[in-house]
Amino acid sequence: RDHQVKQQISLLDQASQFYREQLRSANTRDKAIQYLQQRGLSGQIASQFQIGYAPAGWDNLIQHFSDQKDATSLLEKAGMVIHNEEKNRHYDRFRDRIMFPIRDMRGRVIAFGGRVLGDDKPKYLNSPETDTFHKSRELYGLYEARQSNRQLNRLLIVEGYMDVVGLAQNGITWAVATLGTATTEQHLIRLFKLVPELIFCFDGDQAGRKAALRALDIALPALQDGKSVRFLFLPEGEDPDSLIRQEGQSAFEQRILNATPLSTFFFNNLSEGFNLDSMDDRARLASTALPPIRSMQPGLLQQMMLDRVSEITGLSAEQLASLINLHKISQP
Ligand code: CTP
Ligand code: MN
Ligand code: MN
Ligand code: MN
Ligand code: MN
Repeated sequence: RDHQVKQQISLLDQASQFYREQLRSANTRDKAIQYLQQRGLSGQIASQFQIGYAPAGWDNLIQHFSDQKDATSLLEKAGMVIHNEEKNRHYDRFRDRIMFPIRDMRGRVIAFGGRVLGDDKPKYLNSPETDTFHKSRELYGLYEARQSNRQLNRLLIVEGYMDVVGLAQNGITWAVATLGTATTEQHLIRLFKLVPELIFCFDGDQAGRKAALRALDIALPALQDGKSVRFLFLPEGEDPDSLIRQEGQSAFEQRILNATPLSTFFFNNLSEGFNLDSMDDRARLASTALPPIRSMQPGLLQQMMLDRVSEITGLSAEQLASLINLHKISQP
């Protein structure tokens, strides 16, 4: 098994080199290079992220490995080749796409994301889960962020590949992206081992706001004294890449400085739709607020958030604390 993992890693590394070569070789390079330029990326950033291009055609990758024994079935296991059982045919998963290699903490390529150059669907295609690639754990750009920063104090968590790369192009070299999935508890546990501060910055759209609410839920139990989480909300229709290209590094950094602390986001969101002049609403607010606060680790922030609920509702902090404990005991 260990041998197989090594083989797979070596194969993915060779695939990544193959895709990069396609940006240099004459007949395929033009439109891919043009696309990267049009998105504002320099050759230096493209090479730092080892961005490549999977040419059009059904079996370029398969052909590239044709002199290696069992390569096709290994490529299939690595998620790079699809086996059509009906036609008993193998073909490349990634065709005519800009390729973003996903690297683990040691810099080894473990998967890919691929983007179409135009408006075809799906816009992005990702490697499937494999022995070496677990989506809910990995983050795009983490290796690169660690390489570019002698000491990392914080990480910006964004949605997409282009956000990470576009931010780096504009001087913000500490962004990472979840891989087309929601932020998980595993992501946060992992990131909090590396840095004390996380800033979520999702797209300025409905999906992005939903992702922020989910991140809030997951962040509450992961927080500990000395760690912090903030949220940077973007103007409607923008994502980090589009915004930093428009307004530049220092304006974006200003937004980061002004990012919303977790507790502010929590209470803004909590009081929405409640009329605090009404006792009934204050009671409902307390019962909405207590479960998430109870999910937090005991500490200063939990205490302060309880105090805030007490201010809003008029219940004493002791009453609230005992409610929390009661609920704890009554849980199965
Ligand atoms: N994503 C995906 N599959 C899709 C669409 C999106 O896996 N069909 C993931 C990708 O990781 C993508 C991220 O979700 O980077 C964010 O999606 P979106 O905001 O649509 O992508 P952008 O990165 O903004 O795309 P673009 O290249 O157009 O800027
Ligand atoms: Mn097969
Ligand atoms: Mn989006
Ligand atoms: Mn985008
Ligand atoms: Mn986006």
